[in-house]
Amino acid sequence: MDFEQVLEREGLLIENHLERYLPSEDEIPFIIHKAIRYSVFSGGKRLRPLLVLWAYRWAGGIGDGPISVACAMELIHTYSLIHDDLPCMDNDDLRRGKPTCHRAFTEGIATLAGDALHALAFELLAVTGNIQIIREVAHAIGTKGLVGGQVIDLLTEGHEFNEETLKYIHYHKTASLITVALRCGALLAGANTEEMESITNYGTNLGLAFQIVDDILDIKGNTTQLGKTVGSDENKGKATYPRLFGIERSESIAGDLIDCAKGSLPPDKDNTLFFELADFVINRVY
Ligand code: IPE
Ligand code: IPE
Ligand code: MG
Ligand code: MG
Ligand code: MG
Repeated sequence: MDFEQVLEREGLLIENHLERYLPSEDEIPFIIHKAIRYSVFSGGKRLRPLLVLWAYRWAGGIGDGPISVACAMELIHTYSLIHDDLPCMDNDDLRRGKPTCHRAFTEGIATLAGDALHALAFELLAVTGNIQIIREVAHAIGTKGLVGGQVIDLLTEGHEFNEETLKYIHYHKTASLITVALRCGALLAGANTEEMESITNYGTNLGLAFQIVDDILDIKGNTTQLGKTVGSDENKGKATYPRLFGIERSESIAGDLIDCAKGSLPPDKDNTLFFELADFVINRVY
């Protein structure tokens, strides 16, 4: 089975659990549950939840134990995308191949759908009863993590910037959630200090490469395949790798980060899936 088939098969598992965790559309207030489901069930790659499960198994866990934590990661990710697309942020009209949440449901409902997903994610994290997990996730998505990155992303829009700022943005807005997803999986399997360090370095490098490729796809990609409007970053004067270094150099930096990600994993473990994931991230077209 190749990596994309694994992604599809395991993605269905995530889908099934999300279906169980999310309130149904006939629960009051109908509109918010409709908006939540519209955004969650729209064909994302489900990478972040799968990182939880894969890191759990990599560190010796068996089965799908941390499925609630995995689903929480997808809810946080989807919340961040809904808010990222709002007119006050990236002002995008297309997400996962459909009109963005605020286009379909108004800005107010989209903002609240993001808020509700954020809250539900912590309800699911609490199912573990594991305070360290809850604290790590909260830290990774707050002002020292995802939100911090989004702030500098916004403030840098239309301005000159340097590599250090760009790295700050990518590390915080994207790599921190990817890394914490891996860390949570490994922690729940009882990983030791060396394993935690390896998986953290893998996540950081993979996450940085992931966002560089996202920036490249915003130029070289295809709107239909990508499910979001190509050229959106350039229109807004976003701080991106291609804007600073050009496409070729950005591709080479992303390639080096992928090599570093692979090199972070200990040779005495079965890293096959994480190697394949790294190759997928650099070669992806969606
Ligand atoms: C998009 O993430 C946002 C970034 C951090 C670049 P994904 O490319 O994983 O989006 P989905 O979940 O597959 O839609
Ligand atoms: C988004 O980065 C990162 C988030 C935390 C949501 P982008 O703004 O580049 O993501 P896309 O291209 O809209 O998916
Ligand atoms: Mg953005
Ligand atoms: Mg965006
Ligand atoms: Mg982007």
